[in-house]
Amino acid sequence: MHSSKDLPKITTHVLQEMKQKGEKIAMLTGYDYSMARLLDKAGIDVILVGDSASNVMAGHRTTLPITIDQMIYHASSVMRAVERALVVVDLPFGSYQGNSIEALNTAIRIMKESGANAVKLEGGEEIVESITRILSAGIPVLGHLGLTPQSINKFGTYVVRATDEEESSKLMNDAKILEEVGCFGIVLEKIPAKLAADVTKSIGIPTIGIGAGKEVDGQVLVIHDMLGINTDFSPRFLRRYNNLQEQMISSFLRYIDDVKSQDFPNEKEQY
Ligand code: KIV
Repeated sequence: MHSSKDLPKITTHVLQEMKQKGEKIAMLTGYDYSMARLLDKAGIDVILVGDSASNVMAGHRTTLPITIDQMIYHASSVMRAVERALVVVDLPFGSYQGNSIEALNTAIRIMKESGANAVKLEGGEEIVESITRILSAGIPVLGHLGLTPQSINKFGTYVVRATDEEESSKLMNDAKILEEVGCFGIVLEKIPAKLAADVTKSIGIPTIGIGAGKEVDGQVLVIHDMLGINTDFSPRFLRRYNNLQEQMISSFLRYIDDVKSQDFPNEKEQY
């Protein structure tokens, strides 16, 4: 197995080169120091400090409640662990939709207080003024189109997006706008594979898919889902690489048993 120390530090320019070379980008979410250390050690290209922390770390039903302070807490914990990966942080719901100055102030706070490398915002044409202002401050921006979980109350469900002509042509148009204004990449969430492939071919910046098929420039998953820590969420696009829930609960059960039966600690485990 390689060590991440042998691999080049990831920047937005490296991601661009990866697209040109046809080398796929591997991205996972990360929210804390210990997990981020393991991700970086394994050589992950991008760590997304996603607002999915609202679900998997805090137990909320949606991504809406998480605050800027909480995102900064997660992002700065991740930054203390990372040597190689590019770290991207979600701007939380309500922190950028108001106006572009508010969006810029949020992005600056996140960059200054966490030390992260870039931010991600959900939406296309409707938030382009905010994206442009953030970019003009020298902050790299990753776009996010398709299923945008911060708009769950508008959509009403988490079903696959852009299946009709109107929505798919808006998505294609949004992707071109995001490239034109200077985003370094776009997350495409839960859209038809054919549309994701068409978008990927039509723009020069990398696309990172989640439930968007294989003909994109990279993939992202939520770490708790792919490790099988959280098993309540089983969309078709999710591949589970482990069943940590089972392994963790079995460890907790053994520990509880050992404590109750006074097997733990033994002679060697005391002073
Ligand atoms: O918050 C998040 O984890 C995300 C990914 C699902 C792309 O935005």
